[in-house]
Amino acid sequence: MKKRVFSGIQPTGNTHIGNYLGAIKQWVASQAEYDNIFCIVDLHAITVLQDPKLLKSQTRELAGLLFAAGIDPEQSVLFAQSHISAHAELAWILNCLSPMGWMQRMTQFKEKADKQKEQVSVGLFTYPALMAADIVLYDTDLVPVGEDQKQHLEYTRDLVQRVNSLYGDDTLKMPTPSIPQVGARVMGLDDPTKKMSKSEDKPNHAVNLLDPPKVILKKIKRATTDSLRDIRFDPERPGVYNLLSIYQGFTGQSQAKIESHFEGKGYGDLKKELGEVVVEGLKPIQTRYAELTADPACLDSLLAQNADKIRPIAERTLKRVQEKVGLG
Ligand code: TYM
Repeated sequence: MKKRVFSGIQPTGNTHIGNYLGAIKQWVASQAEYDNIFCIVDLHAITVLQDPKLLKSQTRELAGLLFAAGIDPEQSVLFAQSHISAHAELAWILNCLSPMGWMQRMTQFKEKADKQKEQVSVGLFTYPALMAADIVLYDTDLVPVGEDQKQHLEYTRDLVQRVNSLYGDDTLKMPTPSIPQVGARVMGLDDPTKKMSKSEDKPNHAVNLLDPPKVILKKIKRATTDSLRDIRFDPERPGVYNLLSIYQGFTGQSQAKIESHFEGKGYGDLKKELGEVVVEGLKPIQTRYAELTADPACLDSLLAQNADKIRPIAERTLKRVQEKVGLG
């Protein structure tokens, strides 16, 4: 039996090369080895206010983008979270089993709450319980994610242990995070001390997967570096380190090979070559995306069919938990 992989991505804004290198690329690369379920997490998206029409179209477009990036419908199930109500139902139970203190430790919430102040939603606070529900509903073994989701995965594992110690070891399966060696934390091009993020709207912050070649080249050309010269993987120099890591993520070459390639060259050369590598890497995705989204109804019906396929797995787990807890 193949191990079960589950992961998710929010249909909010522009999907960027951080999402690609940290998550999507590894989902695609290991598809044949596992039994895969990938989820467009629209319920997570509404933890901040969304335009209803836009949310629907972004869900469909993200499905197109993931298929274009290489998610193979023969090997992986891609669906929208809100199509399976068991996610929200299990999340409620898990909310009730989560100690408040565990949630209060989540750094991602603290960062977002700092920005949104009193307007921050209760849903954003309990977001990790919904994420835990997503994962455990499918008896997941492995969760491939970028570095920023590590704390949410640790919370999920603590919660599984707590639930199993309360209701029996066979209640929930313990998942393991899988974080890539390269590209787990792509930083902002404008500020390499901050994670590349969808919610940052500065023009030169992120390279989006659907950016035209000209825009990609321009954004990389403007990336923040430093006033030194040599091109090395030195974490003390976050700008150059970030550019080299993106280069490594797209080419798959070793650090030593990349450093020797750039020996004696300047930052201008690094930016030019990186721009070309990223443009070339994204070109096939962009071409397929245009073909796939030409028929939106087809994507909608594929998402609906996929949800129908896996709903019984989620419902079985929900029932098991409900019985253990004394519900239903
Ligand atoms: P989201 O939509 O923010 O990001 C999707 C995936 O992209 C990764 N990622 C990055 N990787 C490297 N560098 C970056 N700058 C970068 N930014 C984002 C994320 O780590 C993620 O793997 N909470 C999740 C979605 C989710 C989920 C789940 C994931 C909901 N339920 C269950 C796994 C399992 C999120 O908001 O991802």
